[in-house]
Amino acid sequence: MERTLSGIERLAGIIHSKWAEQLQFGIILGSGLGGVAESVQNGFSIPYNELPGWPLSTVIGHAGRLIIGQLENKNVLVMQGRIHFYEGYSMQVVTMPIRVMQRLGIKDLIVTNAAGGVNPSFVPGDVMMITDHLNLMGMAGQNPLSGPNLEEFGPRFPDMSQAYDRDLMKITRSVSKIKGINLREGVYAGLSGPSFETPADLRFLRAVGVDAVGMSTVPEVTVARHGSMRVLGFSGISNKANLNGSTKTTHEEVLEAGRLIAPKIEAIIHGVLSVI
Ligand code: HPA
Repeated sequence: MERTLSGIERLAGIIHSKWAEQLQFGIILGSGLGGVAESVQNGFSIPYNELPGWPLSTVIGHAGRLIIGQLENKNVLVMQGRIHFYEGYSMQVVTMPIRVMQRLGIKDLIVTNAAGGVNPSFVPGDVMMITDHLNLMGMAGQNPLSGPNLEEFGPRFPDMSQAYDRDLMKITRSVSKIKGINLREGVYAGLSGPSFETPADLRFLRAVGVDAVGMSTVPEVTVARHGSMRVLGFSGISNKANLNGSTKTTHEEVLEAGRLIAPKIEAIIHGVLSVI
């Protein structure tokens, strides 16, 4: 499966034929956070396997469907479940849904993930607003913008100095305060996975200023910024990264913490959408 402009346009056309109004926000729900989609109103869902060429997620906790409808009277396209590079898809395929959003004229992206807390003050259940990211996958040669540049979406060398939108972050801070949510902030590192980090990996990440680590988000945000979308990102801290090797990390604890995190992220998303 490869990303092509005609494939992207075809998918955008299918979605547009089912929901003619302008969609405003794209929302990506990460591991264990799929419940946020349940508050979408007046909408409908499309399983990914009914969208020709849409990459299918293979991971437990990722339902794999689009939900289109309204949240706080804003027209939203929600991805309940995403695919990851470690599933064997190319970076271009992993980020193809972002291109479809851009083709649909969606200008704002809210992206969520489950992440390990590298900052020692973070505890499972915390929500961290991503203020910046460390593109370790890109540094290792895996950037979704490699190859011929899609000029119709953005420039060859896109700026990444403000990958996460400052205005949206400001709104998020005030919304969290009003709702009594202890919002954490920090730098997210995107690794390719699927193996969790060794204690040495984690000590390295902490030493270079990382607060949370995960296996997603960075490719999508890179493509979103290439297409000039405004991005707001959240990591749900599902486990404490284990810098000294004393405990194990499991996918089950990631899903379990999602049950604590989802209501907070849902409240923040509702609050942000209601004031924009
Ligand atoms: N490391 C990487 N990805 C993750 C983690 C982690 O500890 N927790 C949830 N996703």
